[in-house]
Amino acid sequence: MKNIRNFCIIAHIDHGKSTLADRLLEFTSTVAKRDMQAQLLDNMDLERERGITIKSHAIQMQYPYKGELYTLNLIDTPGHVDFSYEVSRSIAACEGALLIVDASQGIEAQTISNLYLAIGADLEIIPVLNKIDLPHAMPEEVTDEIVDLIGCKPEDIIHASGKAGIGIENILNAICERVPAPKGDPNAPLQALIFDSVFNSYRGIEVLFRIKNGTMRKGDKLRFMATGKEYGADEIGVLKLNQEARQEVSAGDVGYLISGIKEAREVKVGDTITHVNNPTPEAIQGFADVKPMVFAGIYPVDTTEYEELRSSMEKLQLNDASLVWEPETSVALGFGFRCGFLGMLHMEIVQERLEREFNMTVITTVPSVQFHATGTKDQELVINAPSDMPEPNLIKHIEEPYIKAQIITASEYVGAIITLCMDKRGIIKGQSYLTSERVEMSFELPLSEIVFDFFDKLKSISRGYASLDYELIGFRESDMVKLDVMLNGEKVDALSAIVHRSKSYEWGKRLCEKLRELLPRQMFDIAIQASIGQKIIARETVKALRKNVIAKCYGGDISRKRKLLEKQKEGKKRMRSVGSVEIPQEAFLAVLKID
Ligand code: GTP
Repeated sequence: MKNIRNFCIIAHIDHGKSTLADRLLEFTSTVAKRDMQAQLLDNMDLERERGITIKSHAIQMQYPYKGELYTLNLIDTPGHVDFSYEVSRSIAACEGALLIVDASQGIEAQTISNLYLAIGADLEIIPVLNKIDLPHAMPEEVTDEIVDLIGCKPEDIIHASGKAGIGIENILNAICERVPAPKGDPNAPLQALIFDSVFNSYRGIEVLFRIKNGTMRKGDKLRFMATGKEYGADEIGVLKLNQEARQEVSAGDVGYLISGIKEAREVKVGDTITHVNNPTPEAIQGFADVKPMVFAGIYPVDTTEYEELRSSMEKLQLNDASLVWEPETSVALGFGFRCGFLGMLHMEIVQERLEREFNMTVITTVPSVQFHATGTKDQELVINAPSDMPEPNLIKHIEEPYIKAQIITASEYVGAIITLCMDKRGIIKGQSYLTSERVEMSFELPLSEIVFDFFDKLKSISRGYASLDYELIGFRESDMVKLDVMLNGEKVDALSAIVHRSKSYEWGKRLCEKLRELLPRQMFDIAIQASIGQKIIARETVKALRKNVIAKCYGGDISRKRKLLEKQKEGKKRMRSVGSVEIPQEAFLAVLKID
């Protein structure tokens, strides 16, 4: 155990974590050069394409240092805020962390939030100044920022470049030297922390864990403490590039377990594994159920594909435990599912995976956050969709989720960012200078205001020089109303939204305008109305077409006519009819684009 080092790499998105991890694997000959492909740890296609790490992975390396052989377990972590719970569990499985900072960018919001998680878990921090090969790297400035942030000495910071392969040996040496060996008693009752699970269509769910105390042997009867479920240890082992089966793994080790688990839902990241016989009295601290933050409906474009969509969602959920859903019906869209996501990125990924891996064409409705309401009879209500919202006279008050946001930016953008946050009903809580040019600001904001396009706006007003991190801080009373949309007098439930009263008029007006642009003209006028309760607050009209599309083809040749009709049919693919009005898919997401 004295030669085991468990460490993770924490960094802001794009600061080069995966590239550096690849270099470590290469340098320790964990992967033969010919097997090396860029960003080896990101083994989901989608991850490679988007260049982001969605799931954490773990891998073991052997490294000789000062005449002894060390076992280094690297636990990779995702960088995006949607997946911060996974970061915190990965961190809890380690004794040390490489803190990677891009020498051309400096400290960003997730550098700080991840660092705090690591410090909170008592990890030894090894600061790494990465991408020093870049011509516009600013090693001195960024070194000052790091020294200020973690209170280390400048000489503690390792200069590196994952891309150019600089500083890799220094990093490995520092891991052996500075990261403490795991503590723990191999003879104590078993306590293993689950930090991830991986779905494999042949072998079922593989559970990744770190043993704090005790020893796990092949064939043992195990219990997952949070779920109370019991399994046999059919296969256990360590994670090299491929898994290597072992007869036993013990305190300090990072390993995998295969035990016939079929669904990701049964495995909760953060849960503790123990033995059925001689269990530990205490679970490892800090387990929390991950809660979805954003909800939206997913419907098949073709209503006959409902069952197929259900089975695709079930399969997707097998390896994405954070995706939750239940059946939902909409007057406008028919049968579909109300899904909960960790954030907007997660939602996009789910939609993309449904389309790509399962060949489904789906309509996603306006995302919404979860509201809490208290009814007139003091009953507690949870509102995950506009359709859950009771009539105003049946509720005492509504609460909406608030977040604490941390934004780091260049000082010249401070004014614009404050304006943006105020416009989003935010309250500024603090502002401090990291250097003379870089500022850290904190705000309290309603989550519903930032789920849509806040991040894009932030990026555009700061020309990309702003980073954001946030955490949920609780629910607060708010004056929320349900805004409905009617087309020719018929309510289209899938277009309803819950908005703050102060913004409802503006919202209604813009939404009607946007819909007017998006609805194709038909043979009759289409009245678009927005209402709160019985009150109409905005109205637009889509004028009728004067001629039908093929009228002008009379006398023309038949193939041209056919082409036009073909084109119309194509356009109908993602259309839904409500009453007599046809609505294209974009219209259901019009709300996302209204300002
Ligand atoms: P996430 O997994 O999404 O959190 O990103 P990451 O931190 O793993 O970053 P990744 O390794 O994917 O690198 C991001 C980008 O920076 C890629 O385009 C890399 O090619 C580039 N990059 C990474 N390391 C270096 C480096 O040392 N020097 C230079 N010049 N570019 C680098």
